[in-house]
Formats: sequence, C-alpha cells, structure tokens
Amino acid sequence: MLNILQEIFAYLRPWIPHLVIGIAIHLLFLKKFYNNHIQPKFFSWFYPFLANYHVTCREIKRKHFESMKDHKSVDPELRKKGGLRILEIGPGPGYNFEFYPPNSELTAVEVNPFFEEQFFKQQVDHPHIKMNRFVVGFAEKMKDVPDNSVDIVVSTMVLCSVRSIEEALKEIHRILAPGGKYYFWEHVLDSEDFWARLGQNLASYLYYDIIFGCQLNRKSGDIVKANKAGFSKIEHERFRTPPEKGYEYLSYFHSAHAKGIATK
Ligand SMILES: C[S@@+](CC[C@H](N)C(=O)[O-])C[C@H]1O[C@@H](n2cnc3c(N)ncnc32)[C@H](O)[C@@H]1O
Repeated sequence: MLNILQEIFAYLRPWIPHLVIGIAIHLLFLKKFYNNHIQPKFFSWFYPFLANYHVTCREIKRKHFESMKDHKSVDPELRKKGGLRILEIGPGPGYNFEFYPPNSELTAVEVNPFFEEQFFKQQVDHPHIKMNRFVVGFAEKMKDVPDNSVDIVVSTMVLCSVRSIEEALKEIHRILAPGGKYYFWEHVLDSEDFWARLGQNLASYLYYDIIFGCQLNRKSGDIVKANKAGFSKIEHERFRTPPEKGYEYLSYFHSAHAKGIATK
C-alpha cells in the first residue's frame, strides 16, 4: 500500500501546478478557457517528464514500425533514396521520429501549437529525416493535406484524444496514396482486468478534462478494427506494455494497448 502511495506521489509531482490551477479554473466554470489556452501550454511543458513510458516501450515500437522500411514511396525522387512521405498526427515531443526510414520527409498535424518549436528542434537529433512541415490542426480535418499525397500516416496515443475517431479515420484514408499504410498504437480500455478498468474509468475525468485531454477508457483499437473507413486490410493486435521502472503499479492501469497497420 505504501509503495503504491509513493508511486502516486512521484507520478503526480510534476503535474501539481497543472492539477491545482486546472481544478480551480474548472470550479470557476472557465473550463473552455482552460482547455483551449492553459492546458495545451502545460501539456507541452510536462509531457516530456513522462518519457519513461517511451523508454519502456522503445523496442516494441521499433518492431511495430519495422515494416515501414520495405514500403515504396509514390514520389519517384524519394523512392530512389528509400525515403517516404510520412505524416504523423499528434507527435507531441516526437518520440517516434527515431523509427522512420532514412531520407523520409515528415509532416506533423498537431492540435497543440506549443509543440511546433520542439518539432523543428528535433531536426538536430534526427538528421536521418527531414522535418518538412508542422500543421496546427485536427486529425479530423486535415484540409491543408491533399488527397492521395502521403505514403505513411502514424499516430501513437492520439485516438484517445481526438473528438471523433471515425472522422479521423476518414481523413487518414483520404490523404493516403493507394497502398499507403496507417500505423496506429493506442492505450485502450482494459477489457480483461476489472480493477484496472475501474481505475481507468475513475481517472478519466482528471486525464480528459484537466491533464492530457485524453480518455483513458476509450476502446480506440476496437473502433479502428470495426470501422473499415475504406481500408482494404486492417491488422490489429491487443497487447500489454511492460511495467515502467519505478511505476510498476500505476503503469499497469494503462498497460492494455492495441496496435496495428491499416492499408488503403
Ligand atoms: C498523449 S499525446 C501523444 C504524443 C505522442 N504521439 C506520443 O506517442 O507520445 C496526444 C497528442 O495528440 C495531440 N492531439 C490531440 N487531439 C488531436 C487531434 N484531434 N488532432 C491532432 N492532434 C491531436 C495532442 O496535442 C498531443 O500532442
């Protein structure tokens, strides 16, 4: 019991200003103002404190993205160099960039403008790819991205936050070139463990409204699997992420995941 309390305190420590200000503003009925202006700034600042998750999942993610290197770009110049036109939705600080094939060109569609600076700064640590464009916008309405123009779309831990998974999938399908692939990776509602599911349902208010803008208890993987959105093939797999060092109990609550690849 003491261990779990220690973990909760260590986990929440970087979020304390965010939580206190968020709850106070919500109590003052300024929810919309908080969610539009304050939450995104806080989020871009403290999300890098959670890099532990990415360190824990790095090798599983590497495997997930491995098949990307065999994909051929529709752009003849990029194809010669083995690169791809990749569009990542909601990259945040850019934990997936290391997995992209050399010579690829990357566009980000990200709703949080405070990540733009971090996106272009990531160029220094990822010289193997080109940070091409940062579009501030919603996955559900990528009007600045032409039809059939992208080889690969990636989203990791984003479908828990979008307003409509169905609309996002339609848009992803629209912008992908024929044969293009959508790689997804999401934490999902734990359908196996009652206590984890209860914890997810209870924590969802804090996660969604105050901290991340993310629904901890969404069935994102199942929705992608069920909603074909015109894709010719959807590979879908449920799995559990390994325990995070120092947060063995807490990380269990969001260890239920789904990943897969949808082909246009
Ligand atoms: C939990 S973070 C995940 C960041 C990163 N993909 C990762 O795996 O660490 C969710 C990200 O999705 C972005 N996001 C949320 N809703 C979005 C939407 N409708 N369209 C585009 N990006 C969105 C957020 O701003 C945030 O950067």
